[in-house]
Amino acid sequence: SDTVDRGAGGVLTIGGLTAEQIVEQTGSPVYVIDELDFRGRALSWREAFAGWKVYYAAKSFLCATVARWISEEGLNLDVSSHGELMVALRAGFDPARLALHGNNKSDEVLRLALTSGVGRIVVDSSDEIGRLERLTAELGVRASVLIRVTTGVEAHTHTYIATGHEDQKFGLSITGGQALVGMVRCFHSPNIDLVGIHSHIGSQIFDTHGFEVAARRTLKLVSQFREATGVTLSELDLGGGFGIAYTAEDTPATAADLAASLKDIVAHECRGFGLDVPQLSVEPGRAISGPAGTAIYRVGTVKAVEIGGGHTRRYVSVDGGMSDNIRPALYAAEYSAVLANRASDARPVLSRVVGLHCEGGDILVRDVFLPGDIRPGDLVAVPASGAYSRSMASNYNYTPRPPVVAVRDGTLTPLIHRETLDDLLALDAGLSPRHDEVE
Ligand code: LLP
Repeated sequence: SDTVDRGAGGVLTIGGLTAEQIVEQTGSPVYVIDELDFRGRALSWREAFAGWKVYYAAKSFLCATVARWISEEGLNLDVSSHGELMVALRAGFDPARLALHGNNKSDEVLRLALTSGVGRIVVDSSDEIGRLERLTAELGVRASVLIRVTTGVEAHTHTYIATGHEDQKFGLSITGGQALVGMVRCFHSPNIDLVGIHSHIGSQIFDTHGFEVAARRTLKLVSQFREATGVTLSELDLGGGFGIAYTAEDTPATAADLAASLKDIVAHECRGFGLDVPQLSVEPGRAISGPAGTAIYRVGTVKAVEIGGGHTRRYVSVDGGMSDNIRPALYAAEYSAVLANRASDARPVLSRVVGLHCEGGDILVRDVFLPGDIRPGDLVAVPASGAYSRSMASNYNYTPRPPVVAVRDGTLTPLIHRETLDDLLALDAGLSPRHDEVE
């Protein structure tokens, strides 16, 4: 990115602070967000997709400050849980600009959404339609709804994060007929306003072909709905999933290029079905938060391991690992890493950056060349750690989760505090009983 660079001294700086200056203030590990980079990406998506609604996907990373940045840059926000909705509302995010997702929303979260004026509820099942009918009647409110459909698109990404194909938990199937049935049911429901349909085909996607097929199948459904009811739905949400560069091999399209091709695709398909172009929206998460975040770790041990053929691999253990970034272990996701606190002319050696957890799969970066003189006390930075890292962090091995800070013009602002061992011990009922409740 523009503002994360290795200065003349080979020292990593982010937002005007060196890695060492940041860690002096925060301790390690830490997730660092370059505020101007984050805001710049948000704005570039909004501008590239002018006329569309751009929902930032909160699941990739959310906290109150990020919700405020998203609001200030003029984007909408996609929340997919009670917690994400609460953060957005507490941060003062305009509820009308929220969309609520989820395949198993509780009555509690639906009530909160309905009473706080959440703009769109993305309905995922016929059970949920029934629940909304009951709750809207009970509360005396109306619900503006998108129906999430499965398009049958097989996105070329890791199977755990592909969501458009038929045999999975999300949405109502187009080919199975449930989508149209659900739409007609919403249409006849007295308190439900069906405004459009939603499709999300998967994540970390690099090519637009899947979106083209999804647009064709969803617009065909819109035209079938028009035949059935005489009404043309006004909104189409094509979801998120736009890939980013984790390593030098990844070459993602820019928001502007994506916008241009998605506009063409939708215009072409609309012509084919004789439909006016609907109000369109997209839901980028990772594309905004991912590249703006860097994880910084402290090296604790360095070990050379014989790997056969006279080769050795350098195992560089850092003070974090799969508890703060599960993606390599879960999706075989690849990252890069750099020595962050000093310049080195030492010969680069094949290295593996590993964590401190008690399993062999606790790998942050499988293969990376790091200077041969890397040693305990050095800092290692892992770029592109802004999405699905803190938001998927765990307390494995009773490890407190690292803090998140924003840096901008040499100033550091805390976004999420460091969790402490006391925080974790306070949840241990055997150590910290709560006399006022039985769980
Ligand atoms: N909209 C919907 C309905 C989604 O389900 C998702 C992601 C997004 C938008 C945003 O996708 P993005 O643009 O960030 O790729 N934990 C996985 C990714 C799971 C994504 C789930 N849904 C990972 O770390 O790769």
